[in-house]
Amino acid sequence: MPAAHGETHRDATAGLRERVQELDPWYHTLDLGEGVLTQGMFDLRPYVDRYGLPEVSGKRVLDVGTFDGFWAFELERRGATVTSLDLDRIQELDWPPRLRPAHDGSRGETFRLAREALGSSVERIGCSIYDATPERLGGPFDLVFCGSVLIHLRDPMLALERMAGLCAGRLILAEEYSRRLAPFAFVRGAEFRGDSPWSTWWIPTAATWLRMVHTAGFEDVRRHSSFNLRFRDQRGGVPHVVVHARGGAG
Ligand SMILES: C[S@@+](CC[C@H](N)C(=O)[O-])C[C@H]1O[C@@H](n2cnc3c(N)ncnc32)[C@H](O)[C@@H]1O
Repeated sequence: MPAAHGETHRDATAGLRERVQELDPWYHTLDLGEGVLTQGMFDLRPYVDRYGLPEVSGKRVLDVGTFDGFWAFELERRGATVTSLDLDRIQELDWPPRLRPAHDGSRGETFRLAREALGSSVERIGCSIYDATPERLGGPFDLVFCGSVLIHLRDPMLALERMAGLCAGRLILAEEYSRRLAPFAFVRGAEFRGDSPWSTWWIPTAATWLRMVHTAGFEDVRRHSSFNLRFRDQRGGVPHVVVHARGGAG
């Protein structure tokens, strides 16, 4: 490689590293190539097998609540045509009233930088799952993927109902579940956390999640796995259950 070409390449990598740092903090650890790795709050790479992704080559896939885009890019890498949904403004999040920040701001910059760095074609649509319909998103999907979103919603049942209306194949849902209420699974409980500083609303038990998914209209609802999703710094973690189900939309 001629020296000048090598210089340009090094400059581009250094430029990308700088842009990644400017957007700190990242939610996902993403390998953007050329040795550039985002320092995300969660590194999902060791957990991918726990989600039980099906064969998606040639399939139309929806990633709900994409954030920095880890799952959207992973599904695209496996051959899917991916649409991802997320909110465009901080104020659009379902804040409990006492936690709602006074300021607003845009969301999605980290996703856009990662998309550019990866040369990805994932289409990110700024739309709440509450408003997501087949008409708005160009028809139903073969796979609807939703990771760690519903605990942050005031109305997780409406979101699940919307997903049922969009899912013509499989649903993969991964959410935090309550260990504290696990011994009382027969009451279909959920912890109320609207007063916690984490902007979570509801932490159902694993059994309750299964009933909620079925209630929203999905069939063949089953627990695929459960695991403790660790923070990057390895301290603590969040217990997650992965639910698989079949949708009948379209
Ligand atoms: C905890 S992150 C999960 C990111 C990713 N899905 C994963 O599994 O790692 C939750 C994401 O859901 C998004 N979100 C919150 N409310 C939403 C809504 N009503 N519609 C769509 N996305 C939403 C947030 O903006 C955030 O990007």
